[in-house]
Amino acid sequence: MDDPLRRSLLYVPASSEAMLRKAGARGADVLIVDLEDGVLPDAKDAARAGAERLWLELDLGGSEVLLRVNAPGAPWHEADLDAAARLRPAGVVLPKCEEPERVEAVAARLDATPLFLMIETARGVLAAAELARAPRVAGLLFGAADFRASIRASRDPEEAELALARGTLVLAARAAGIEAFDTPFFEYRDEAGLERSARRARTLGFDGKTAIHPGQVAVVNRVFSPDEAEVAHARRVVAALEAAAREGRGVATVDGEMVEPLHAAEARRTLARARRSG
Ligand code: COA
Ligand code: MG
Repeated sequence: MDDPLRRSLLYVPASSEAMLRKAGARGADVLIVDLEDGVLPDAKDAARAGAERLWLELDLGGSEVLLRVNAPGAPWHEADLDAAARLRPAGVVLPKCEEPERVEAVAARLDATPLFLMIETARGVLAAAELARAPRVAGLLFGAADFRASIRASRDPEEAELALARGTLVLAARAAGIEAFDTPFFEYRDEAGLERSARRARTLGFDGKTAIHPGQVAVVNRVFSPDEAEVAHARRVVAALEAAAREGRGVATVDGEMVEPLHAAEARRTLARARRSG
């Protein structure tokens, strides 16, 4: 089966009917309807009720929809899970994950709903491998704002303070056979900065990047889609290895680099992803 195509994941505050109504037209592969930190405490109940009221009439374009609930232990968590059970989103995003037992409790409660875990604290990063193996976990999402605060980091222009956590997230996700999604880039008018941040995440192995503003979606989709040079290279790899195999050889040389069968699998994945990215 094809890998899911989740390049861009746009957070949409559930408290904004205007944003929700147009969200399907923003081009994001995934919309994350947010009941957590994008919504003020006083507005939580109204936001949940509003999202439920709108849910069925939303025009989603081609986007998949996840629901971000408040974290276990927060006063709105239970009511949010009840809403998730009624709405049956494509997945539930669980913030501030640190303890596998809490994830297991949510998994038991929402039978059959895929879970996407936010890793955004020091404890969460250190528990990422275990969290990723909890039942029905389909992906890990990195959140840099809470993470920076949790480790008392300051901000480096090259995001050096995030490197260890990002690498850990990708390792944990891959070891569990699930997906990894990078943090939003919060300076949402800085397109060049976003592009650098997204390229860095892609290089590290992330499958996609979350976004907080619709203006970020096109950049993220582009960065996480194979470009023409990558597609051409992938085609050359497949052709060269097929030719080599016909001659009874296992390896070939493409663009000055030795390639072997593992590269053919990678190349086919690139070609499939390119096809689906359009
Ligand atoms: N999802 C959907 N639509 C959004 C959006 C989002 N996250 N952010 C902005 N929009 C819409 C606006 O409603 C506006 O729509 P319109 O042109 O149809 O009226 C359009 O995009 C342009 O918005 P703009 O005026 O540039 O942004 P803003 O100044 O209104 O809002 C933010 C800026 C950061 C406050 C806003 O983008 C936001 O709330 N983002 C989400 C933050 C969030 O989810 N945080 C928690 C997760 S980390
Ligand atoms: Mg957060």
